[in-house]
Amino acid sequence: MKYLPLNPSIFIKNRERFVSHMSKNAIAIFNSNDELPTNADQVHKFKQNSDLIWLTGVEQEDTMLVLFPDNPDPKFREVLVLTRPNEVKEKWDGHRLRKLEAEGISGIKTIIWLDMLEGLLQAWVHLADTIYLNTNENDRRSNYVEVRDYRYARLMRERFPLHHYERSAKILKVLRAIKTPLEIEVMQKAIDITDVTFRRLLKFIKPGVMEYEIDAEIYHSFLSQRATGPAYGSIIASGDRARTLHYVDNNQVCKDGELILMDFGAEYGNYCADLSRTIPVNGKFSKRQKEVYNACLHLHLYAASILKPGISIIDYTKKVGDEASLVFQKIGLISKSDVKNEDADNRAFSKYLYHGISHHLGIDVHDLGTRTAPIKAGMVFTVEPGIYIEEEQMGIRIENNFWITKNGNKDLMKNIPITVEEIEALMKK
Ligand code: GLY
Ligand code: MN
Ligand code: MN
Repeated sequence: MKYLPLNPSIFIKNRERFVSHMSKNAIAIFNSNDELPTNADQVHKFKQNSDLIWLTGVEQEDTMLVLFPDNPDPKFREVLVLTRPNEVKEKWDGHRLRKLEAEGISGIKTIIWLDMLEGLLQAWVHLADTIYLNTNENDRRSNYVEVRDYRYARLMRERFPLHHYERSAKILKVLRAIKTPLEIEVMQKAIDITDVTFRRLLKFIKPGVMEYEIDAEIYHSFLSQRATGPAYGSIIASGDRARTLHYVDNNQVCKDGELILMDFGAEYGNYCADLSRTIPVNGKFSKRQKEVYNACLHLHLYAASILKPGISIIDYTKKVGDEASLVFQKIGLISKSDVKNEDADNRAFSKYLYHGISHHLGIDVHDLGTRTAPIKAGMVFTVEPGIYIEEEQMGIRIENNFWITKNGNKDLMKNIPITVEEIEALMKK
């Protein structure tokens, strides 16, 4: 890992929160993700299971966590399971965690090697009445590939058919959505790295630059600041490409007179930032670009002003749509009669704004959490309205990250230049 050691209290606190939601005399078992093989004798870059990260901070493959708060033997109430370091493997693949190092990361005192688990687990399970197992209940995830958690659940249910089973994911979905101040510190670091990088791009971008050169600048800037890398494939979309929401080809030349939409964010300590900014390639917005940009900024500020405890993301999205219906009339995209005659399932504004406004953000870019229940203090959301105009070959999106407070929210990206004036002034320098 490139990031500086995180505070183990992040994970100690997260485990406390999880355990407080477990039923009596229950054991919870968590697995790491699979290492995915390439076509030959290598593996893809390992990505740890997000729930295991949230609970332990441990990024290493073949790691497990066992939580059994009512274990009669206090030593085994919280156990981290690691692969035993192997001298030959370390010569090829590098250092693997020793017990003290893993304790430093996770705050877990009892650490055993994976080859010892079998001899201990059966007795623990026999003492427990309920077994919590984990699967990924992120609604946005495709679960066609049978990953380790699903194979493990099947195995356990065959071995221990008479236990009562519960879903850890049900608890995690509620808890992971609420970020502790300790987690926010790490997210703010990812955001600050992204801020420095955006300011660097304001000086770098000019007519003739290739989209991939901007991508490379982002990568360079992220890694130089100890980020693990981009939190997702950076979208560097000049001109008409900006209308493709997940454009990642990044292979076109940025032309004089065009806008460029950049959606990128650093991953630091396994937490993500998610920023979008749209700027003029030549440093100066045209009159029309400025008009549409300010309409988008207005929607962004409006959305941020109503993103507070009590409203659900579904209701909030509808309200932002109502405001978009007004704003899009003002900039000549739709007419009063378009709105009057619109179909409730295909509203007039959605020709120019065809995605959601906000998503949960955290360890995953599209993080776990509810869309239907009222939002709560502690959640982190993006606010990212966009305006995409096919007739004018133009796309604009403005995205910041907000931490919900008791009565409103805190803009974690408030330092990142956002107005036409700020952007033009910094591009002029
Ligand atoms: N780049 C993905 C998103 O903003 O949601
Ligand atoms: Mn984004
Ligand atoms: Mn986003």
